[in-house]
Amino acid sequence: MAHIELKNITKKFGSHTALTGLNLEIADGEFFVLLGETGAGKTTTLRLIAGLEKPNEGQVFIDGVDVADWGAAERDVALVLQQYSLYPRYTVRQNLEFPLKPKIRRLPEAEIKDRVARAARTLRIEHLLDRKTDRLSGGEMQRVSIGRAIVRKPRVFLMDEPLSALDAKLREALRTELKNLQMQLGATFLFVTHDQIEAMSMGDKVGVLNHGRIVQTGTPHEIYNNPRDTYVASFVGSPPMNLIDGRLVNDRAVMAPVNFELPLGAKTFGGGRTSGATDGRPLVFGIRPEDVYLESGAPVEARVHDVENHGVEKILTLRVGDTMLRATVPARTDVAIEQPVRFAWNPDKVVMFDKGSGVSLRHAG
Ligand SMILES: Nc1ncnc2c1ncn2[C@@H]1O[C@H](COP(=O)(O)OP(=O)(O)O)[C@@H](O)[C@H]1O
Ligand SMILES: [Mg+2]
Repeated sequence: MAHIELKNITKKFGSHTALTGLNLEIADGEFFVLLGETGAGKTTTLRLIAGLEKPNEGQVFIDGVDVADWGAAERDVALVLQQYSLYPRYTVRQNLEFPLKPKIRRLPEAEIKDRVARAARTLRIEHLLDRKTDRLSGGEMQRVSIGRAIVRKPRVFLMDEPLSALDAKLREALRTELKNLQMQLGATFLFVTHDQIEAMSMGDKVGVLNHGRIVQTGTPHEIYNNPRDTYVASFVGSPPMNLIDGRLVNDRAVMAPVNFELPLGAKTFGGGRTSGATDGRPLVFGIRPEDVYLESGAPVEARVHDVENHGVEKILTLRVGDTMLRATVPARTDVAIEQPVRFAWNPDKVVMFDKGSGVSLRHAG
């Protein structure tokens, strides 16, 4: 399989810059997810690796080799798209055989049979082999498109939002299947999506792309617990991290404009004192909804603004003056709208961001 590296890639379309100084490294056998909103530059990144676009600046390396002069066919990567492109009048078997029958490098018949059989078994579409592809469901069609990639035994799988056209239940099932498939093949996967849940649940590593720039790369755990800036903090997690304006006063968080204050723990200061965490500096305090809790003796009073039932838990919106924040609480918590409650947060789970730049103080040099 293969190791992929993108070095300082800039890609422009006319006067529009789609990617700026992009650096990305994907280890051999890794499931890497590129997460970004529509227009962030995800498809462009895949097309650059596949050899369907050329960068204005920077280099693409596959297994340490600069592939600038290699055409798409030579790169030996497979691109799976959201819109599956199958031949409708042909059977599943014919669709799977097709990529193995180019005139120049035709494989022996026995090898083709074997590869098709294996792919069909892996994707559990053996019973569909003789069916025409226009008689398949969405999930089955997407399995066949993935099968068309697998039979080629490419060095890298590039997947462009392959699950986003499917309904929620099927998407969940295929998420698990794709992840299993990747482990089984030991293949390098670059999977792009705008869905943060997909990214967090599937990726060994996640790269967050915003307006053509990589904002942060890390494990899902790192991205979730130690977001580089307020963009990542509010993009990842549902509901997202609470972000509250305030200042640091004697190592306590004092919120503005409503004056309520909460303690901060040693872990928030990163063990020692995070550089730049100085008294009075305008900050944004970030806390995940699951780290906010209700307690009768807790320091701050709020009103229950809204209650959402989610089965095992409830998501409360609390209101302090004009400040709103979310708290995830157990379903048995009995609260009514407008009821006064008291809340606290886990002082070790607070992330401090610079108010001006939005960058986390832990990440600022
Ligand atoms: N061929 C093209 N010509 C002009 N602009 C393009 C072209 N392809 C992509 N873009 C622009 O580049 C940006 C990134 O696009 P894309 O990579 O498709 O984003 P994503 O896949 O994350 O939604 C968008 O603003 C898009 O409009
Ligand atoms: Mg796209």
